[in-house]
Amino acid sequence: MPYTKRFDGRKFDETRKIEAKVGVIEKADGSAYFAFGDTKAIAAVYGPRTLFPQHLQNPVKGRIRCNYDMMSFSVSERKRPGPGRRGQEISHVTEKALEPAVKLDNFPNCVIEVYILILQANAGTRTAGINAASLALAHAGLPMIDLVSSVSVGKIGGKLCVDLIKEEEDFKEKNGEKSATDIPVAFLPRLGKVSLLQLDGKISSKELSEALEMAQESCNKIYEVQKRTLKEAFKEWK
Ligand code: CDP
Repeated sequence: MPYTKRFDGRKFDETRKIEAKVGVIEKADGSAYFAFGDTKAIAAVYGPRTLFPQHLQNPVKGRIRCNYDMMSFSVSERKRPGPGRRGQEISHVTEKALEPAVKLDNFPNCVIEVYILILQANAGTRTAGINAASLALAHAGLPMIDLVSSVSVGKIGGKLCVDLIKEEEDFKEKNGEKSATDIPVAFLPRLGKVSLLQLDGKISSKELSEALEMAQESCNKIYEVQKRTLKEAFKEWK
């Protein structure tokens, strides 16, 4: 079934309304809020601090330890509280997406703890979480070579779209078969490097290249919002 008009009326290459803020949790060393429309994420960073137990320490470089979770009230069908396999997977890929941006060799034997909580979810929570966490790491004053900007792209009813909502992720063909392809991506925008690429569904290699270009364009826009948010916060700080 062709997808000619998006469910929420956006253009195919348009993200939802982006909101970003830093310094939302006073106790944390760094913190941030990031929203794609009604998908809202909050992130807090603590550290670097010495990593225990000692056998986990790396004398060459520090590590990022990420904890992602969704609040029970973030979705209409209550999310079971506590850790689960989905949360573990997202925590892991988020660590991998953030690691190349931080100068971890400055912190041997240390850990930087990153907590991400999803306050409200309508798809794209890992990408919103990565954007919030990247802002929180920068807000903590950690040495970084770049920020990390993330968005999902996908193929819905034969059409490439950016920043999918849940209705789009669940898009079904006339025969009732689920046909959406969801591709969460993260970039280090200044370096033009990819630090997250997941793919759920089917897509040709030509379309994947087009989708990645679309994602990169959106990530460049997200990057501008992230930089502006940090600059404004540090201006007030003086
Ligand atoms: O959120 P993201 O797209 O990164 O990951 P997903 O595993 O593809 O989840 C897609 C969406 O499913 C979430 O954003 C939520 O809106 C919804 N979801 C849910 O309703 N209940 C859960 N326990 C997990 C996800």
